[in-house]
Amino acid sequence: MDCKTNELSIQEMESYFSEDYLHFSDLVNPPEVSDREMEAIWKLLSLGCGSPVLELGCGYGRIANRLAEKGARVTGLDISPSLLKKAATDAAERRVDVEYVHGDMRSLPWRERFDAVILWFTTFGYFDEADNERVLHEAAASLRKGGRLLIDQINRFHLLREQSPTYDIVQRDNDLRIDIINNDALTDRRNNERIVIRGGCVRRMHLSIRQYGFSECSRMLRSAGFDSVEAYGQEGEEFTSYGPRLVVVAYK
Ligand SMILES: C[S@@+](CC[C@H](N)C(=O)[O-])C[C@H]1O[C@@H](n2cnc3c(N)ncnc32)[C@H](O)[C@@H]1O
Repeated sequence: MDCKTNELSIQEMESYFSEDYLHFSDLVNPPEVSDREMEAIWKLLSLGCGSPVLELGCGYGRIANRLAEKGARVTGLDISPSLLKKAATDAAERRVDVEYVHGDMRSLPWRERFDAVILWFTTFGYFDEADNERVLHEAAASLRKGGRLLIDQINRFHLLREQSPTYDIVQRDNDLRIDIINNDALTDRRNNERIVIRGGCVRRMHLSIRQYGFSECSRMLRSAGFDSVEAYGQEGEEFTSYGPRLVVVAYK
C-alpha cells in the first residue's frame, strides 16, 4: 500500500471531510456524546452567556450549535463547504444563530475578538511543523487578552498500547468505512488510509496528523504568545498517561 506520511493538500482535506464523512458521523459521534462534550468544553473554558467563541474546524457544527444553544455567541470556521452547509442547516433547525465562515485556520480574519478558541476532536496537527505553529499564532491573535485556547487531541502515550496498523470499521446498512491507521514513530504522525464503500462505489482517502505531546505543545503555545498552559483528560478530569485524550487549555 502507498502510505503517504506528508501533510495534506486542501483538495485531499476536502475529499476526506466530505459527504462520506457526514454519512457515518452520527455513528461515530452520537448526539448524547456531543452533548457531553459540549458540557465539558463549557466548563473547561469557564464560558458564560454571551461569551464570544470561535471553533476552528467546526465540521458539521455538532459542538458549535450546542454551545450556541447554551448561550455562547459562536463563530465556526471550516475548510469543507459540505460540512458547513450541514452545520448551518442544523443551526436553523435548532433555531440558533451561529456565524459560519468558510476558510483556512492558518489564516484568520479576526484580531482580539474572542474569549475562547476551540480545536476539538483531533483538529490540530494536519500540517507541517511551520503551519501547525501558524495555526496557534492565528488562534492567539484572534483571542482577547485573558482569552483561552482549547485543543483536544489523542494522548500519545495511549497510542503506545495500540497495534500498528489498527483497523477500524464503521457500518451503516450496506455501507462501510474502513480505516487503516499507522503510527509512524519517525515522523510522530498518525496516518490514516480510509476506504469508503458506499452505494456500491469505493473511494479512498488519506489523513495524516502530527501527534504532539504536552511538553511540545506547551512550548509551541508559549512561543505563540500564551502565558500558561494546562493539561486535562477529555472531560476535564486530571490528565494521566493512560487516558485516551489530552486536552490542553492555554491562557493568553
Ligand atoms: C475531525 S473534524 C472535527 C470537526 C469538529 N470539530 C467536531 O468536533 O466534530 C476536523 C475538521 O477540520 C476541518 N479542517 C481541516 N483542515 C482545515 C483547515 N485548513 N482550515 C479549517 N478547517 C479545516 C475539516 O473540514 C473538519 O471539519
